Amino acid sequence: MDASTEPTELEPDDGFTPAPRVVAKPGEFRPLQIGPLTVDPPVVLAPMAGITNAPFRQLCRSFSAGRCLYVSEMITARAFVEGNAKTLKLASFGPDETGRRSIQLYGTHEGALGEAARMLVNDWGVEHIDMNFGCPVRKVTSAGGGSAIPARPKLMARIVRAVVKGAGAVPVTIKFRKGIHDELLTFLDAGRVGEQEGARSLALHARTAQQLYSGRADWNAIAELKQATKTIPVLGNGDIFEPWDALQMMRQTGCDGVVVGRGCLGRPWLFGEIVDVFDGKEPRTAPTLGEVKATMREHARLLCAFFGEKHGMAQMRKFTGWYLKGFPGAKRQLGALHMVRTMAEFDELIAPLPDALPYPMGSIRARRCKDGRPQDHVSLPEGFLECRDEDVCIDDPLEMDGG
Ligand SMILES: Cc1cc2nc3c(=O)[nH]c(=O)nc-3n(C[C@H](O)[C@H](O)[C@H](O)COP(=O)(O)O)c2cc1C
Repeated sequence: MDASTEPTELEPDDGFTPAPRVVAKPGEFRPLQIGPLTVDPPVVLAPMAGITNAPFRQLCRSFSAGRCLYVSEMITARAFVEGNAKTLKLASFGPDETGRRSIQLYGTHEGALGEAARMLVNDWGVEHIDMNFGCPVRKVTSAGGGSAIPARPKLMARIVRAVVKGAGAVPVTIKFRKGIHDELLTFLDAGRVGEQEGARSLALHARTAQQLYSGRADWNAIAELKQATKTIPVLGNGDIFEPWDALQMMRQTGCDGVVVGRGCLGRPWLFGEIVDVFDGKEPRTAPTLGEVKATMREHARLLCAFFGEKHGMAQMRKFTGWYLKGFPGAKRQLGALHMVRTMAEFDELIAPLPDALPYPMGSIRARRCKDGRPQDHVSLPEGFLECRDEDVCIDDPLEMDGG
């Protein structure tokens, strides 16, 4: 079993206070305007590598009547421009994904990024491009990409400018972290660059690159960015696990929209619950195990249709632990589910799980996917921080995995 997908302990109680369970009042929140795109309610599916491919986006859309914005996982600009088959597949959309075709681009070089943006808009009909300035993984930051870039604001400006130019009328947005570490916070610089260079919204994952996914996201930083940003919407990101968290983040920080990541892993219906509370209604009832099984089956079916059965079922394995997290007795099936190869085998393995079990609400905040540890240090190219004023582009890697 892949260690990252193993069922893990619940998060330690670090003084967490649940958000008030008060639905939105009429007119309390405005739709999110990203250039010509109106997103109502102002809710965005976070780009997540290995997760937010077309099948997963379709599943999230199906629970929320397509009303949110659903961003692809990060696509490496150079690999896309060079026609890498895997990248092209990941950059593709489902047949009914129209009006909101949204893709996240990763790269370090203005040439490849600008060209990728141009191709995505002109040849692929993409309607929104998000730029990755937040990825903290070693392979990415040591190549001077992702969350390293905002530490060089002039370089960041150059890159954003190239993508905005390549995208023409299609809106470009940027997503970034608080900074490299607590002593090198870059989010206000990143926001300023975005605003100046024509980004149409900013999204802040309120942790540093060093933190990875550990600790609590610092929602005060989201409020600070919102205060500092005058001309474009600010989206908050970090630790939305329940619909109430989405409302609370908006109320507490004054941000214009929310970005939802790990909370929907194995819980794509979270988007439906969030839409409900923004509509002023109590959230729909959490699914029983029987209903979760039906969603799992649908997810597996969509993955197989998109990737073919072999690759689709391989992709499905990591989701099974997230879907079944907290259901008594489900752990027994996980070993086999993590090796499942066919849809028929999958059906057989989940069939014995009792349909009537209610959803284990206590598992909602259980750690999913990323472990809870920070990294010792953020790996950067040699001399990267000594010349932060530098704007020379670093050569693009061919392919990268997100995080
Ligand atoms: C498995 C996984 C993959 C991710 N991949 C990306 C990515 O490709 N691009 C990106 O900008 N952020 C990526 N992220 C970060 C999320 O978009 C989001 O910023 C982060 O999970 C914090 O939000 P959350 O607390 O709602 O999960 C990834 C996160 C996870 C868990």
